Amino acid sequence: MRTGISILGIFVADTAYLAPRMPALGETIAGSGFSVGPGGKGSNQAVAAARAGADVSFISKIGRDTFGDLALKTYEQAGVTAKLIVMDDKPTGAAFIYVNDRTGDNAIIVYAGAAGTIGIEDVEGARETIEQSAVFITQLEQPAPAAHRALDIARKAGVTTIFNPAPAGAFPAEIYRLCDYIIPNETEAAALVGFPIETLDDAKRAADVFLAQGVGAAVITLGARGVLFHNAGQSAHVPAVSCGPVIDTTGAGDAFVGGFAAALARGAPPLDAVRFGCATAGIAVTRRGTAPAMPSLAEIEAAMA
Ligand code: ADP
Ligand code: NA
Repeated sequence: MRTGISILGIFVADTAYLAPRMPALGETIAGSGFSVGPGGKGSNQAVAAARAGADVSFISKIGRDTFGDLALKTYEQAGVTAKLIVMDDKPTGAAFIYVNDRTGDNAIIVYAGAAGTIGIEDVEGARETIEQSAVFITQLEQPAPAAHRALDIARKAGVTTIFNPAPAGAFPAEIYRLCDYIIPNETEAAALVGFPIETLDDAKRAADVFLAQGVGAAVITLGARGVLFHNAGQSAHVPAVSCGPVIDTTGAGDAFVGGFAAALARGAPPLDAVRFGCATAGIAVTRRGTAPAMPSLAEIEAAMA
């Protein structure tokens, strides 16, 4: 039986600058803090799933530079198998994150760098990795044609497919039919269906739109309110798991997706996998950062007990 997870996505080095305000154009101001760490939705999901006990391969492109070294170190520490093309003429992806040092509000620029050039031929190069996994995950941080081809390969090989349409953006409608699970947050779901999602009923209406487009199940994350799981046979609201004071919700969705996939890959029924994903994310939000905040299998099991 196949039990591994393959993920197509991007790595970016998150460079976070704390400051009292955004500088105006042409202005230089003093900051009050700085940190650099691993980021990128697909990369965070890979770390989350591996920490949650899954055998994970991460497919991406990086540059031959310091941030590329950070990516490799991240996968070595988390036990993720890195299936990375290293480019000589493009830098590793990087994100500029301004954080207001009083309110915590942020403003972000993401540059995908080498990962922004992931094309269909790169995905074809990773075909075996995708075909040999139990579960495949992708998002929209890398070019949509690459995500589309990878989902098509996975579907034809009988691999369970998860599509996390993040960040919110356009993609070919044929992708819906290739998704066993679509996992948007409220904002992404609202952008796709064209109406706001404020209540659970709104989320159910959005899920029905996704089902009508051909997805197997819609799993809409609702922040502190948990998750709506909705397919043709059942609709269930799974509450969030509270694991202590909430410190940093950045990457909560990635923790959920990684945990959900890890449980599915072990053969868990979908609703149990949703509960496992909620526990994974519930722990991650009590810790600062994204990849370093992902809990171990033992920690997740303790939170669920
Ligand atoms: P994203 O990070 O993509 O915006 P959400 O905010 O919907 O995604 O969060 C994803 C999941 O993380 C939620 O479904 C929930 O299980 C968990 N989560 C988010 N915020 C909290 C919180 N404050 N307390 C506990 N769990 C949370
Ligand atoms: Na966190």
